[in-house]
Amino acid sequence: MGLSNKQLPKLGFLYMDYVLRFFDHSNLKGWPNKIETVTYHWKNDKERFIKEVKRKKIDVLIGNIPATAYETFREIARELPHVRFVPSLDTQFSNKSKENVTRFAWKYDLPIPKTYIYYNRPNADKFLQKTEYPKIVKKSYGPSNYGGYFVHKVDSYKEARALFDEKKYHPMYFQDFVPMEADIRVMLIGHKPVCAFWRRAPEGEWLTNTSQGGSMDYMNVPKSVLDLAVKVSKAANAEYWACDVAYGKDGKVRILECATAFAAFPYIRDWIGQYLMWSLSEGRFRKPHMPMFNWEELGKINSDLLRTMRHITFGEYKPSYDGAYFGKKKKVYGDKEVYLHELDSAYKMFDIKPRTFEEWPSEKWNYQDRFPLKSIKSMKVPALKKEEAPEVSGDEAAAMAIEISNEDLEALLLSIKGLGKKKLSKILAYYDHAELVAVLEVEPRALEDIKTIDAKMVEKILEAWNDFKV
Ligand SMILES: Nc1ncnc2c1ncn2[C@@H]1O[C@H](COP(=O)(O)OP(=O)(O)O)[C@@H](O)[C@H]1O
Ligand SMILES: [Mg+2]
Repeated sequence: MGLSNKQLPKLGFLYMDYVLRFFDHSNLKGWPNKIETVTYHWKNDKERFIKEVKRKKIDVLIGNIPATAYETFREIARELPHVRFVPSLDTQFSNKSKENVTRFAWKYDLPIPKTYIYYNRPNADKFLQKTEYPKIVKKSYGPSNYGGYFVHKVDSYKEARALFDEKKYHPMYFQDFVPMEADIRVMLIGHKPVCAFWRRAPEGEWLTNTSQGGSMDYMNVPKSVLDLAVKVSKAANAEYWACDVAYGKDGKVRILECATAFAAFPYIRDWIGQYLMWSLSEGRFRKPHMPMFNWEELGKINSDLLRTMRHITFGEYKPSYDGAYFGKKKKVYGDKEVYLHELDSAYKMFDIKPRTFEEWPSEKWNYQDRFPLKSIKSMKVPALKKEEAPEVSGDEAAAMAIEISNEDLEALLLSIKGLGKKKLSKILAYYDHAELVAVLEVEPRALEDIKTIDAKMVEKILEAWNDFKV
């Protein structure tokens, strides 16, 4: 059964300069044919990239597209109608911006905090004058847009107004404040949850990002949360997916974020690889089996060790084999007690098939470029480029774990040859310290947007930064 070596589609990894790679060959261990790689070099690289994909006769291009290249890749995908992108550009729609996540949720009637998106600033201002507070203001799109750095709580019109005057976020994107117990990250493969954990805010704080000192916990993720994550993954037709679900103090679940680009342990990326091999070979390779709630057990392993563990496989439950862990263990789930293995048939792993139409064509959905923020009197605004440097990539946790004082960060920058007080103040006028750390980690190339900082200088800064980290 399944396809022979010759019949298998030709695979390629989609890589981008400056972006951490989510997959490599080791994740598709056992694939018998050569897997090509195609690297996008940014800035006017579209035609060359398309040619390379054609020349290499690639049928399936696997990889995440960072937000800032999203629109370019929608164009590229159109010019490569016979290439299947995994995940598809439609599936990756939510990767681009918080606005897109919201529009996706609106379309499929998925629960999210009540959200307001304004391109018309005077209208937003009118609304902000009469609305209730607190509100959560977010940057919808842009460099290193993750980890709560661009998420703000405002308690009054005055604060909201001051924030938007200062930050010039465009569109103006804000939500009702939802008091929550925690938020829960669920990762899915073929719509089956394979990992899930709670992220709780530190005492007295409202941000639940672990990056800001919160805690993580794999135990007893509620049914309502897993069910919502599955529903979202299905709506996105996602081969793999991560969903952040807010678990409200009111007991309700709401989506905070969802994307195909997320931080995941290597063994999870192996699972995705094995899943794709099964799917793309039409069953020639073994369908991987990840028992429900495996994360409660794997989560007990020291995370440094877990990070090094690869190709974790599980046998399936067989009634005759007593002593099997997942066969005997019962769990309170929803409103009853169930055997864990029963949940595996309730949460199936599906074989995702590509859709044949464009669900989110840019002509309609790319509001950002259709309604750019023009500099108006009294408000000078940096132009939003059509294509900017990357954002969310592999390891958001890594960026967050870095501790450096403002003084040390400045000293580090000043130690670089050719970078003096003047350049430093230019940089700090552009990014505050926390933003700068995130930018250095995730998309250093964005520094080139600052006048007087060129590619060479970025190289030097990166060198110093990497030295500091070891
Ligand atoms: N509407 C909201 N009400 C209350 N807290 C929120 C709301 N939206 C976000 N948060 C908190 O802020 C954090 C970051 O928001 P999120 O939308 O995930 O942005 P980021 O891309 O920065 O991770 C969330 O994990 C959550 O703790
Ligand atoms: Mg988040």
